[in-house]
Amino acid sequence: MSTAAPPHIRVDVLLDSHDEGSLAEAVRAGLLGERRELPPRCLYDERGSELFDRITELPEYYPARCERAILNRYAPEIVTSMGAEELLELGSGVASKTRALLYAMAGAGTLRRYVPFDVDPSVVQRSAEELTALYPGLCVHGLVGDFDRHLGELPEPAGRRLVAFLGGTIGNLEPEARAEILRALRGLLREGDRLLLGADLVKDERVIVAAYDDAEGVTAKFTLNALRVLNRELGADFDLDAFEPFARWNPAESRVELGLSARSAQRVTIGELDSAQVEFATGEEIRTEVSSKFTPERLEGELREAGLALERLLRDDQGLFSVALAAPAGAEPSANGSAEALAGGAA
Ligand code: SAH
Ligand code: AVI
Repeated sequence: MSTAAPPHIRVDVLLDSHDEGSLAEAVRAGLLGERRELPPRCLYDERGSELFDRITELPEYYPARCERAILNRYAPEIVTSMGAEELLELGSGVASKTRALLYAMAGAGTLRRYVPFDVDPSVVQRSAEELTALYPGLCVHGLVGDFDRHLGELPEPAGRRLVAFLGGTIGNLEPEARAEILRALRGLLREGDRLLLGADLVKDERVIVAAYDDAEGVTAKFTLNALRVLNRELGADFDLDAFEPFARWNPAESRVELGLSARSAQRVTIGELDSAQVEFATGEEIRTEVSSKFTPERLEGELREAGLALERLLRDDQGLFSVALAAPAGAEPSANGSAEALAGGAA
């Protein structure tokens, strides 16, 4: 379905509430099974996206600050080295850091189209409007969909394509889903195209935990928002005050695990799931998100497994966050050589 829009904007909605992968089915599988976990897309309605945007401005939340510094610094050389004409961005959100890439493409005279892809319609529409106002003549073809299911429904490329998956969102996927999405991304690349993947790095546990347990409590509100979404979208009757948000480091899995812990024993009814009842004991948890942290070696290995060759591993000055530039395997190797050589330096 396509919505009416100004001439340079088109937004296609690929989500449909009744198919197998819909929110209801994902929640049925996640909440009515043995392990209580919600898919991260439950976090992102309009309010969730706004809260995430506030998270990116928190002093403790280094990933956004570091990724922005990397993109601001390297965007011109990334886009000119490959002649990027189209920027396809998964999980684009409010596309704030993306602007460095679009700016560089516009400066190089190659910018033709931006394709933001996100599960939250509000951010796709907003970024389309803001960016066409900023770059008159820019075509934006937005897609509202689930990157686990709809990557086969993308428009044909409008030219040489840079696929961006930023923010460290790859770390929000479980290993199997990660492998699957990396393979799907590989499938989107033709010779000369590139993938730009933001991935958070392993570091001092205290720095990581502080980023997810901020003093202002914005992350706690963001996590609780998942219950608000279930109440509204699925007719559930979660009492938000009855759950306490948590964020803790799991060293064995090298990831932060976020979720909600029941403050007391309770029963929740989910209207749209045939009024299913979910019982919670005191302290019982619902996991809302994992956020995996990578070593350069692990990142390179996962890319390689998916048929992607790491060309450059760009890092901020403190070495906290990374942005990997990868080519479809089999394409000509870049002049910068192997990933091992690059992993040692900032670029
Ligand atoms: N790239 C932005 C936003 C990151 S937040 C940044 O770096 O700041 C993660 C984004 O992924 C959100 O906008 C969320 O709506 C989107 N998202 C989460 N799960 C998704 C899914 N399954 N399919 C498509 N988008 C998804
Ligand atoms: C979107 N994603 C990369 C964020 C992260 O850091 O894992 C989501 C987030 N959750 C809580 N804070 C930030």
